[in-house]
Amino acid sequence: MRTVHVNLGARSYPVYIGPATRRVLRTIIDTRATDGRAVIIVDECVAKLHLDSLLEVCGPATAVLRVRPGEASKSLTVAAALYDALAEAHVERNDLIITFGGGVTGDLGGFVAATWLRGLRFVPMPTTLEAAVDASVGGKTGVNHWAGKNLIGAFHQPIAVIIDTDFLLTLPQRDFVAGLAESVKHALIRDSEFLGWHEAHVAAITARQEPILVELIARNCQIKADVVGQDEREDDLRAVLNFGHTVGHALEHLLGYELRHGECVALGMIAANEVACTRGLLDRATADRVRDLLARLGLPARLPHAVDAYAIVAACRMDKKVRGGTVNLVLIRNVGQTIRVSDVLDDEIVGAVQAVLP
Ligand SMILES: NC(=O)c1ccc[n+]([C@@H]2O[C@H](COP(=O)([O-])OP(=O)(O)OC[C@H]3O[C@@H](n4cnc5c(N)ncnc54)[C@H](O)[C@@H]3O)[C@@H](O)[C@H]2O)c1
Ligand SMILES: [Zn+2]
Repeated sequence: MRTVHVNLGARSYPVYIGPATRRVLRTIIDTRATDGRAVIIVDECVAKLHLDSLLEVCGPATAVLRVRPGEASKSLTVAAALYDALAEAHVERNDLIITFGGGVTGDLGGFVAATWLRGLRFVPMPTTLEAAVDASVGGKTGVNHWAGKNLIGAFHQPIAVIIDTDFLLTLPQRDFVAGLAESVKHALIRDSEFLGWHEAHVAAITARQEPILVELIARNCQIKADVVGQDEREDDLRAVLNFGHTVGHALEHLLGYELRHGECVALGMIAANEVACTRGLLDRATADRVRDLLARLGLPARLPHAVDAYAIVAACRMDKKVRGGTVNLVLIRNVGQTIRVSDVLDDEIVGAVQAVLP
């Protein structure tokens, strides 16, 4: 088992990574929850596949609350239903919330944990690669609003994260590969050696070979922990984690969630690199290298069908990170080095998205 530490003073916590790490949950429940009371908020699909094997090691839960798979569950309506269930289960301040599923379950369950009784302790157990390498570490929780994704939320750090890699083995290949986009993102913004590591291990990564999978997740959690440890509430540095996400979120929104989040991030990174190349900040060879790696991992390099480039610009303007009306972008100027630009012209985005149009 590998352990990565997220250092946030009194809010520090460990991230346990490896096969069969679910056994750690028993110890956490025994030591951190009063009378062993723990509520599991679980994705329905994950419950069918893995709940029995989780309950086998952690014993019966105080309550098991099932959530329908899909982004639509990240809503105040579903959160309200969970509050009702917590009230019915007489959940108290020192009871533990365990979220068991992908980023949707983690964001939603974490938000419920952050807000019920002004904050309950929680332990995410991510079961998708997206959640393992990104969403489960860092304490961002939330639900969506009709005006945009993640607009309602809270920073609420977990007390531990348990990433049992056995659970990731049932993930459909397309979802697994989508999560790899965040891994490439972490390498691009912070660690050039890690980018080369991806290139050297494409086959083992996509086959989910155990030591490689554990190494991949641990390195991602370490990068995320380093960034979040320096800037927990995204006052500054943490914004680099949004690399590829401005255009990525716009595409996700415009395509009605037809593509996976990670697939949109891959396209968003390609578009961001185009902006950087056009500005002379990034050399063409590096942009091509990134595009090649994403393709070798199985991520899309182009949209499945045409989208109006000006609609993409308009959707970028809806992004939470827009300040004073201009679109902000995180760009890389070398692998591992980021630069933030706040004067991005509409035409630059229109030009850049040509690179991902069919
Ligand atoms: N909080 C953060 O910092 C952060 C970071 C990145 C992403 N996110 C959020 O995460 C969400 C996306 O997360 P996601 O990609 O994990 O999607 P998801 O939670 O919707 O899961 C994707 C699908 O995989 C299924 N699934 C989950 N685990 C499985 C398994 N082990 N085997 C088989 N099927 C399984 C689910 O039922 C679902 O249908 C978005 O809402 C995004 O905003 C949050
Ligand atoms: Zn993301």
